[in-house]
Order: sequence, then C-alpha cells, then structure tokens
Amino acid sequence: MWGGRFASGPAEIMEEINASIGFDKRLAPQDIRGSLAHVAMLGAAGILPHGDVAAIQDGLKTVAEEIETGRFEFRRELEDIHMAVESRLTEIVGPAAGRLHTARSRNDQVATDMKLWVRDTLDGLDAQAAELQRALAEKALAHATTVMPGFTHLQSAQPVTFGHHCLAYVEMLARDRGRFRDARARLNECPLGAAALAGTSFPIDRHATAQALGFDRPTANSLDSVADRDFALESLSAASICAVHLSRFAEELVIWTSAQFNFVKLSDGYTTGSSIMPQKRNPDAAELVRAKSGRVIGALTGLLIVMKGLPLAYSKDMQEDKEGTFDALQALSLCLAAMTGMVRDLEPNPDILARAAGSGYATATDLADWLVRELGLPFREAHHVTGRLVGAASAKGVGLEELPLSEMQAAEPRITQAVYAVLGVENSVSSRTSHGGTAPDNVRAQATRWLDALGASGA
Ligand code: ARG
Repeated sequence: MWGGRFASGPAEIMEEINASIGFDKRLAPQDIRGSLAHVAMLGAAGILPHGDVAAIQDGLKTVAEEIETGRFEFRRELEDIHMAVESRLTEIVGPAAGRLHTARSRNDQVATDMKLWVRDTLDGLDAQAAELQRALAEKALAHATTVMPGFTHLQSAQPVTFGHHCLAYVEMLARDRGRFRDARARLNECPLGAAALAGTSFPIDRHATAQALGFDRPTANSLDSVADRDFALESLSAASICAVHLSRFAEELVIWTSAQFNFVKLSDGYTTGSSIMPQKRNPDAAELVRAKSGRVIGALTGLLIVMKGLPLAYSKDMQEDKEGTFDALQALSLCLAAMTGMVRDLEPNPDILARAAGSGYATATDLADWLVRELGLPFREAHHVTGRLVGAASAKGVGLEELPLSEMQAAEPRITQAVYAVLGVENSVSSRTSHGGTAPDNVRAQATRWLDALGASGA
C-alpha cells in the first residue's frame, strides 16, 4: 500500500512489531461502516464518479460478509484492518477500490473506528450496569428489614439493613453510568476527514460523514482529531472506577461467604468446589471480579503512559491503545454480568446477620443518643458514660441490653427502664430515618424509586 519508494519489503521482525491485524481485526465492522459513509460522501460531493462509488459500496458489503462468515483471510503482511479490507476490496472491484482512500488517511480512519467501537461498548456497559442496579434494588426491597452489622475499619460499628447495603452499590453504579454517558457524549465528534493531520484540499463534507456515523458533529481541529485518545482514556477511567466498585463488593462477598462470617450464601452457579476438600465452596467468580479490576486499571495506566510523551499529531505508539482498551472494557463487561448473576442468586442468612448485628456493642451509639435526647447530656459526656457501660457489659461478657438497670444507674443515675427500648438492633435501624439513613422505610422507598426509574429493563 505504501511500497512505492521502497526497494525491499520489511524485515520479518519489523512485520511482527508493526502489525496490528492480530487485534484490530475486531474493528472490521466499524472500519467498513466508516468506509461506506466516506465513499457515499465522496460520491455526493462529486469527488468520485457514481459508478465507482456503487462498485466500492458493493465490494465493501461483500468484504463485510466474508468477515462475518469467517471466510476472510487476515494476513499479517497487510499490517492492519484498514489495509486488509482495502486489499480485499481491490481484489473484488479492481482499480476503482484505490479511489476509496481519497481525502482520508489511516490516521483519521483508525481514530474513527476506535471511537465507534468504544461508543458501542460504553452503551453496552451502561445497560449492563443498569441490569446490576436492578438486581441490587430488587434484593434491597426483599431485605429492607434484614438487619446486619454495619462496619467501619471492618469492626462492627452500627447495625444497618442488608437492603441499605445493597443500595449503596446502586448509588455507586449510578455514578458509574453517569461517567459512561459523559464519556460517550464527549467522544461523539467524528475525526473522519481530518486525513493524515492537516485536513484535505478535496471539497469533502465532514458534516455528512459525521451524521451518517451517528456523531453529533465533526471534530474541529485536524491535528487534535488524529492525535486524540482522550475518549479511550476517559472510558478506561470510568471503567476503572466501576471496576473498583465491583471489586469492593466482590471482596465483601469473599469475606461474607467465609465460614467465619457466613453472612450470605452464593449459588452453586457462581461457586466452585475443591477436588480435595469436600466441604469447600469457593467464591471464584467474586475473586475473579476482584482480580480483573487490576487489568482494567492496568490498561488505563498503560495508555496514559503511552500517550504522555507524544508530540502532535499521530505516532505509531498510538496503535498500542487497542489491546488494553479492548481487553479492559470486555473484562468489565464480564464482571458486570457475573456480579449481576451473583446478586440475583445471593441469599443472606438473616439469623446469622441479626446475631452479628447485635454483637460488638453495635447499639452503643443508640445508647449515647438516648442519653442526649432523654437526659439532655452533651454528646461528648453521653459518649463517655456509654463507654463506661460498654466496659461494664464487656467485663461481664454480656450485651448492653443484658446489663441490669442498677449497673446502668451506677454510671448515670438518671437512666430509666425506657433505655432498653433503643438497645435492640431492630429499634436501632428503625430509628435511623434521617435522609439517606438505614431505616427500613427509607430502604423500601429508595429501592422502589430505583426500580421505577430503571424500568422493566435497560433504562
Ligand atoms: N494500525 C494503525 C493504528 O492502529 C493505523 C494507523 C496507521 N497510520 C500510520 N500513519 N502508519 O494506529
């Protein structure tokens, strides 16, 4: 394709390091879509005769079909998907195929292809994240009153409801989806027609190609058009944050399914056994979700480093954007699907959760709040009194609710029998009705609001 001034072909190793066909062949549908839009525009603008346009369009459709049906031969010496498609097109339609590359370059072509791929992928991730939100909101509604320990420092802190915990992830995913959509909106400018870097002297209609490919408008600066990979970086950043959310949840599932916690049960569908220890039920899917966040973050880091030293405009370094981006966004898609399956099948163990919720003096804050509310103690003093009561209960090896009134009164004489009403775990969670609090009424309202907003599917 570019051999005019070369006397010999590339060295074997040159071919190996230079070729991207092994991984950019997945851009074939986007590449052909871009070429169809480009050639239609060239025809409409009077740059190519209609006969050639029609021949090229038919030829491109044949190539697309060959690729879809697996009859296309991807040859490394053709370097990349752009040259592979054009070369086959030439075999099919003859010399007219050579006119397709008028007023464009592989630089604007590859930027367009990548944007189209990333855009479709972001749409898919958004829909998958919505699916996971729905599964979580359904679980939340079913477990609006199921109490569990809430943790800080992984120490029992205050009781919460299982539904409330699920809804925390619904909120995280809402922000993730916002980031996917923002990235999509910002990437939706078409680089095609920027040509190699400087634009072209042909009277092309970049608005027409942008519109044909579903972009909002053409990019405004030809140098930026071919040098920009922000859309990949931004999508990988959004993906990394989402992957971190999934990883945190996965970590919780790993902890919660351990025999020591036994908070929840994962289904057979999302666990594995051990070939030697019959009692084992390993949370492999959760572990892999946790691990794959590393690949996603790694792809972001890798591409940031590829880009950071590049002078404008295009450099071949940018070919290295692909494998990481493909791999990371696909990995996230798989993680979202696996997490959705795990959540749907997840069964909390309410008795164990309730027992754990009441242990570790999880209602100590409720006692302190009662001292403030009923006796008018300043919170700091109430905190001190409560600390002494926790110490007394712990010395006897009993819960706060089991500490006799006389011992309570030894710490603060004005305490009455009424205090016991706030010491139960159920009372504790029901009282947390502040906006965003864990009270079952709040959880039901929030879960219902989310399910309405998400609709039956895909909202
Ligand atoms: N395979 C190349 C890439 O992925 C396409 C662009 C090649 N451009 C060039 N001037 N060699 O970046």
